[in-house]
Amino acid sequence: MKRILFTLAGTVLLATIAGLALETASAADAPAESLKAPAAFESIKDKDARSVALFEEMGKVFTHPRCSNCHPRGDSPRQGMAMHIHQPPVVRGAGGMGAPGMRCSTCHGKENMPFVTGEGSIPGNPAWRLAPAEQGWVGKSLAQICQQLKDPERSHMTLAELQKHNASDGLVGWGWHPGKGRQPAPGSQTLFGELTQAWIDTGARCPQ
Ligand code: HEC
Ligand code: HEC
Repeated sequence: MKRILFTLAGTVLLATIAGLALETASAADAPAESLKAPAAFESIKDKDARSVALFEEMGKVFTHPRCSNCHPRGDSPRQGMAMHIHQPPVVRGAGGMGAPGMRCSTCHGKENMPFVTGEGSIPGNPAWRLAPAEQGWVGKSLAQICQQLKDPERSHMTLAELQKHNASDGLVGWGWHPGKGRQPAPGSQTLFGELTQAWIDTGARCPQ
């Protein structure tokens, strides 16, 4: 019986590793998406409509798996382009840093760490932890994400602080330097910061 169980566990492990390898291969092959600069929206004369269009462009970043994987509404981070539940299972724990004995920092270091064998890497950053549940985006519409970003109760940031966060926060910046085998977020952090500023300057309107 023991031996059967052992074989079974081995098979599941192998299948998991094979699955991960397949996924990293396809992610590495996918080209990075593009992001438009604020100038591309100047032709929209109506200021409110321009603001909404700017936010929709920013939405390409918010809803990209490199960002949303750390912004779930539930208790577990997501992984990969398919945004599946984190393997091995982990929970957010106090401050989003994982349960005692299974902290994010047990596996995630200060920087990305290439796998010893194979193509992928373990993502890393000194501040690696899960975003608070009230800042979760997975499964939400862009309109909902926009309203939540502007709601002081959930965002805990002014619009100016939000712009600064988008333009220069290190954990946000990781999204464009996600390590081997992972597709970066669209565009660049600089462009994302500029879009955020242009959105604020046009009145920070939300899509309906
Ligand atoms: C490793 C996990 C992780 C990743 C990856 C990540 N974030 Fe976050 N995010 C956080 C945490 C933690 C917070 C809470 C920040 C704080 O309290 O300083 C946060 C907060 C935010 C906020 C403030 C939300 C609000 O409602 O005010 C924004 C905006 C944000 N992140 C954008 C991004 C973007 C854009 C990306 C991808 C380019 C990204 N994040 C990737 C963990 C992450
Ligand atoms: C037991 C080890 C382990 C622990 C603990 C752990 N992780 Fe991970 N995590 C990994 C590995 C390995 C990967 C990379 C999987 C891959 O790409 O094949 C990963 C990937 C991720 C990703 C996916 C990045 C992407 O965009 O694809 C996120 C997000 C993440 N972890 C967040 C967390 C958070 C937050 C915690 C703590 C609450 C945590 N992890 C705890 C091992 C761990």
